[in-house]
Amino acid sequence: MALERTLSIIKPDAVAKNVIGEIYSRFEKAGLKVVAAKMKHLSKAEAEGFYAVHRERPFFNALVEFMISGPVMVQALEGEGAVLKNRELMGATNPKEAAAGTIRADFADSIDANAVHGSDSLENAAIEIAYFFPATDVYTR
Ligand code: TYD
Repeated sequence: MALERTLSIIKPDAVAKNVIGEIYSRFEKAGLKVVAAKMKHLSKAEAEGFYAVHRERPFFNALVEFMISGPVMVQALEGEGAVLKNRELMGATNPKEAAAGTIRADFADSIDANAVHGSDSLENAAIEIAYFFPATDVYTR
């Protein structure tokens, strides 16, 4: 497996539940290192830009409104097979379908307030990390 980087966002619902540390702990226990991080209250334009691939989907406006409803915690994670590993830690998009012990099973309330975002491919990970962090703000550890 190759050393990869992926983008993770702890969404407003999970930030409001005060479980940033619990989620970081899961990353660390799975061997993922935080190599960049910031808390940010996204503007509407930033949220729309980030989710531009979903622009035509029926849930797009609700998704954007949710993502700007409070601050988020944005981080780049590094580790062996980081993209898939983070997706496994997150669980299915719909928390009702998420496997027991995953972040979404434990902390998400619904498909639209589902606690975390994670890049779904290595290609998107590079794009998404660059969306939030200049290369000089991502650290090799
Ligand atoms: P998607 O990329 O399909 O899921 P994932 O976050 O697991 O990669 O969808 C992006 C986000 O859009 C998802 O996390 C929550 C929201 N969403 C809805 O609100 N309703 C839906 O029916 C779907 C599919 C997604």
